[in-house]
Amino acid sequence: MFEHLKKTDPLIHREILNELKREEQTLELIASENFTSFSVLETASSFFTNKYAEGYPGKRYYGGCEFVDNVEEIAIERCKKIFKAPHVNVQPHSGTQANMAVYFAVLKPGDKIMALSLSHGGHLSHGHPVNFSGKFFKKINIEVDRETETINYDEVKKLARKTKPKIIVTGASAYPRKISFKKFREIADSVGAYLMADIAHIAGLIAAGIHPSPFPWADFVTTTTHKTLRGPRGGVIMCRKKFASVIDKTVIPGIQGGPLVHIIAAKAVAFGEALNPEFKKYQVQIVKNAKALANELIKKGFRLVSGGTDTHLMLVDLRNKKITGKQAQELLEEAGITVNKNLIPYDPEKPFITSGIRIGTPAITTRGMKEKEMKIIAQLIDEVITKKDRNTIKKVRTKVKELTKKFPIYKGAV
Ligand SMILES: Cc1ncc(COP(=O)(O)O)c(C=O)c1O
Repeated sequence: MFEHLKKTDPLIHREILNELKREEQTLELIASENFTSFSVLETASSFFTNKYAEGYPGKRYYGGCEFVDNVEEIAIERCKKIFKAPHVNVQPHSGTQANMAVYFAVLKPGDKIMALSLSHGGHLSHGHPVNFSGKFFKKINIEVDRETETINYDEVKKLARKTKPKIIVTGASAYPRKISFKKFREIADSVGAYLMADIAHIAGLIAAGIHPSPFPWADFVTTTTHKTLRGPRGGVIMCRKKFASVIDKTVIPGIQGGPLVHIIAAKAVAFGEALNPEFKKYQVQIVKNAKALANELIKKGFRLVSGGTDTHLMLVDLRNKKITGKQAQELLEEAGITVNKNLIPYDPEKPFITSGIRIGTPAITTRGMKEKEMKIIAQLIDEVITKKDRNTIKKVRTKVKELTKKFPIYKGAV
């Protein structure tokens, strides 16, 4: 791979190889990241990157779209099959753009969006003031219960009745428990709100049938394709048939121009992989690994938000370890373990410092790691966070290199 680039742009070529080395030699525990297959990578760098294709299959503003139409139709059909979705739009460039399209399709400026607050697991694009969604719309924050650190549906219902949101957004970036879309539907119906499920994080689990599906409950379902779903970076919108036309028109010409056809083709490839029985085994292993890692960390005295996980991720409250999320992220990175600092519910620290870290297992599971390796990883995390000294970090770095060498990602890539 990259033989041409090596000759024409050695600077960028070198950084690509550096990144490959980083991915191979570190433990990637960022819950929103994954390693795509070679097939997805190849497709994402294919000749479709050259093509303009504004519009939709059979209705394009440009000529030469015969093969583009084929791949977009295949992507749509595969996505419909995976999620049993009535209508699918595969053009959003990202998860945030998918969410933007839904809001602009059915909300007016000033309307209320009710969703988990950022510090309770929500996402910026769910109405946070620094994001476009919080500038155009008014955010009603859902907070988790102080005791259980999970969503209290009765409280959400009371809040909805009091505040009358126009749309309720379920879904999260840092919520380790299952979400009941059915209960959210009941709440939305009780106040006449739309229901949108942002399944960006758990799309793979849903595709494999190990997390409840947002259909038939949600009016709109948005997702990214690059997290547990293990596709290229991008977004998708699914919706009930009656919203098909307004969603499609909002994506283009509403908020986007030409679609990224190479990425749509790569989404189609990833969806094909998700329909393969192997994909279910992979998702089951992600959750098994998350539970194993969570249990090992608990045994070592770590406090997990909500006491554990049912999904691919966990949130670790580090306050009893006398270290902030920022410090832990930095020390772990030096040791070759990549995590992200993360606010925990009712966090006394600022977002740039945080009291917690988020840990996810999708990427290390893609490498083939199982429960045995989770035990080792918990041990390595514990050593770094408990001892915090240079010597330990150096030793852990060596152990991480030894472990990752046994689980290559892109064997034979260069
Ligand atoms: C729940 C959720 N929605 C939306 C997004 C946004 O996706 P993107 O980064 O592709 O805009 C994320 C990203 O982490 C997410 O976690």
